[in-house]
Amino acid sequence: MNEVKIFTADVEAKRRSANVCAYGIDLGTTNSCVARASWQPGGKPICDVVNINQSLWPEGAVESPLVPSVIALAGVEDKLVGAGAKKLRARPQDANLMPERDLFYETKNDIGLRKTYHRADEAYGNAAKIAGHLLRYLKESAINGQGKNASINVTVPASFQLNQRRDTLFACKFAGLKLQDDDLLDEPTAALIDYIMSGKAPHSFEPGKTTQCVVFDFGGGTCDVAVMEITVDKRTKQVLMSQVAVSRYHRLGGGDLDTAIVHEVLIPRLLRENSLGPLDLTWAEKKRGLEPQLLGTAEKLKESLCRGINHLRKLHKYDKADKEKVKARCSSVDIYLGKRSFYLSEPTLSAAEWEKILEPFLDRDLLFARQTDYRLTQSVFAPLQDALDRAGRKPEDIDFCLMVGGSSLIPQVRDAVEEYFQKSAVGYFDDPMDIQLSVARGAAWNALYKKLTNRNLIRAVVQEDLALMTRGQALYPLIPARTVLPFPAENEWARVELEIHPQTSIFTDKLLFKIVGATARQTILHEIWDIPEYLEAGREIIMEYNMTAGKQFHCRAFLKDDPEVAFEHHVENPLVNVVNPGSTRLFIEEKEEELRKKGGGTADDVDDFVQLATSYAELNQKERAINWLRSAMNKLGHADATILNLQGNYYGELGDHEREEKLYREADRATTSWGGPLFNLALSFYNRGKYKEATEAIEQAMKKDHRQGPYLTLKAMCLDKSEPQITHKLIYQQAIKAFGAVSTLSEWELGWYLTAVRAVGDAKAIKEAEEERKKRNKKGIPEVYEDAVLPVVKGGLVKRKKAMFDF
Ligand SMILES: Nc1ncnc2c1ncn2[C@@H]1O[C@H](COP(=O)(O)OP(=O)(O)OP(=O)(O)O)[C@@H](O)[C@H]1O
Ligand SMILES: [Mg+2]
Repeated sequence: MNEVKIFTADVEAKRRSANVCAYGIDLGTTNSCVARASWQPGGKPICDVVNINQSLWPEGAVESPLVPSVIALAGVEDKLVGAGAKKLRARPQDANLMPERDLFYETKNDIGLRKTYHRADEAYGNAAKIAGHLLRYLKESAINGQGKNASINVTVPASFQLNQRRDTLFACKFAGLKLQDDDLLDEPTAALIDYIMSGKAPHSFEPGKTTQCVVFDFGGGTCDVAVMEITVDKRTKQVLMSQVAVSRYHRLGGGDLDTAIVHEVLIPRLLRENSLGPLDLTWAEKKRGLEPQLLGTAEKLKESLCRGINHLRKLHKYDKADKEKVKARCSSVDIYLGKRSFYLSEPTLSAAEWEKILEPFLDRDLLFARQTDYRLTQSVFAPLQDALDRAGRKPEDIDFCLMVGGSSLIPQVRDAVEEYFQKSAVGYFDDPMDIQLSVARGAAWNALYKKLTNRNLIRAVVQEDLALMTRGQALYPLIPARTVLPFPAENEWARVELEIHPQTSIFTDKLLFKIVGATARQTILHEIWDIPEYLEAGREIIMEYNMTAGKQFHCRAFLKDDPEVAFEHHVENPLVNVVNPGSTRLFIEEKEEELRKKGGGTADDVDDFVQLATSYAELNQKERAINWLRSAMNKLGHADATILNLQGNYYGELGDHEREEKLYREADRATTSWGGPLFNLALSFYNRGKYKEATEAIEQAMKKDHRQGPYLTLKAMCLDKSEPQITHKLIYQQAIKAFGAVSTLSEWELGWYLTAVRAVGDAKAIKEAEEERKKRNKKGIPEVYEDAVLPVVKGGLVKRKKAMFDF
């Protein structure tokens, strides 16, 4: 490791002024931090974090390099950032604070989203502005006065997309920091730089050889994985690093573990201690009222338990210990919900409870995100696997893995990652504090290097061949893998001449631009250019493209003889980030924002409320769904059978059958012609083995509703159970008759029809119904829209002399 040099003699020669200094800012989800790197003539370059004095409320102060990324507006003049604000988060009632109004935390998760904090003052209206306030605070307390001409790097998760990077740059500007695109440094890269500079890496980087590295950064709000290659130049011993792949953006961090502790351990205990049932408090009361007050306690319990477990492990006592008895304990807390107050006496977290919470987070098989009403669960192996897949590497190909981020201090996380990289050297910082400070220090080192050399320490490279798909699916190379970015050069465009296939009689006004990653033909861009005129065969088109150091791919095209007719498109980080937040999530986000802008909505928006409820239910967030339905009824001001019935459904699914029945009956009272609520009640009784009650309910329902098919079927099912000695085939037959032709049945009716024909064993009818169902399912698959024409490369693919690479 001693042979590796970042600040070589070449770099030193570039140092002109007497004292060069640079800053790195780690703008974290949970904690932020500032480091300063400097180089005095005659000395060695040094780097250290800056201690920041943070005010408490109403008075006092603490000093620490870690600044919690929390803002509390305790009064007109009392803007608290850091430790003071974090303390107030646990006692928001002291200063009458409310999340997203005058109390902000974990807002980094909202960066890049359209979400606004509608209850907040304009100046705090979204995540970018909050980041701006944090940065301004850091600048004023750690940089001002000394760093006038200093260069500054701010770090972002490697997986941040263009809009998230843009928001971060906006925040810098808001804070009065002048940063360029490439002054944003990826967090894992920064951590690795710091680790290499510390000279402690267990792996030796041999000159002339390439080391495959993984940086696993598991922080408070993100889990970022970067796969990098490190080469040490044989002659100069200089380190050359390039990023091969990074994981997709995963919103997963220690904060999710805290939330899990709050909802799985602390809230259930609080409800029990205060004689409340699991659903006696609403979603909003639990999520917005209890959660913020309990997060700090959860985090304390987690950290203290992890330290305890680590200690026991060092003594080789943990494995044999009774996990129920290994416990962390905190002092009692008072919790407030409006005027009500609750007491949670000496909350604890046992190792058994903790291991259960961790299980899904460390699962190697279930690599998809699961969202419940209150929280998100995702395995840390999702980003790990994702980054390795993108890099085309297996765990055994990796020489060295560096674990950083505060959540890497969790012993079980360390074990899991070490086991995954069995054959690699796994490195940590020895001092737990260093783990949380390394990103800021790495950023400061990079800023210093850049100040001297005008370039980043890490060269961004294209991870995979980028190619344009031309007619006949032939690929034309655009940028070869491992090209150092920017390509072709800063602010320049590469160009390719295209045409409409000259030997055919194609006329078209739609040209398909399809750009793929060449290895797996993964689509990067699939855009149709709607040209305002018809193009005949042989018409020439110029396509220009480039890729910035920030990995943004731009392309534009125009008609050679009419450059005014143009097409333009760009893709952010094309080979890294293909995030589709899911149409349901997106719908929710947009609808909620729309309603917020309207001031919450009125009775006219009730349909939107119901749509939001069903969307949440689709995501399995039933309590939130109920919350929206409750608001809908409130706005409406009178009973509505559909809404009450839905509420009944969701309570049923949550297992609160008392409320379920109450709501179905209420819904039934609100309608004179619809048997739905009672039908659902009957079904609920049936599913719980209460066949007598079920029969009664279905008979009542049938008095109201004329759609007898499903009703008769359910009635026959109930009777089959309550009077098993008698056959009820006749009722099934009656039901089948009542259904009518299968093609006219709704999806719901078709399901019940199948139940009925199966019950009587009518093979022909079963087959017919199953085929109808198959037919409908097929129709649901959207057709691929491909009537646009792929271009050809002028002169053909093979004839080009300067082909950059072969496929
Ligand atoms: N000893 C510990 N054991 C377990 N977890 C810890 C320990 N120390 C810190 N953490 C957790 O680490 C997280 C903070 O880590 P870090 O400071 O790296 O995050 P961040 O940089 O703010 O977030 P991000 O990088 O995701 O934006 C918190 O969730 C904290 O509870
Ligand atoms: Mg971090």
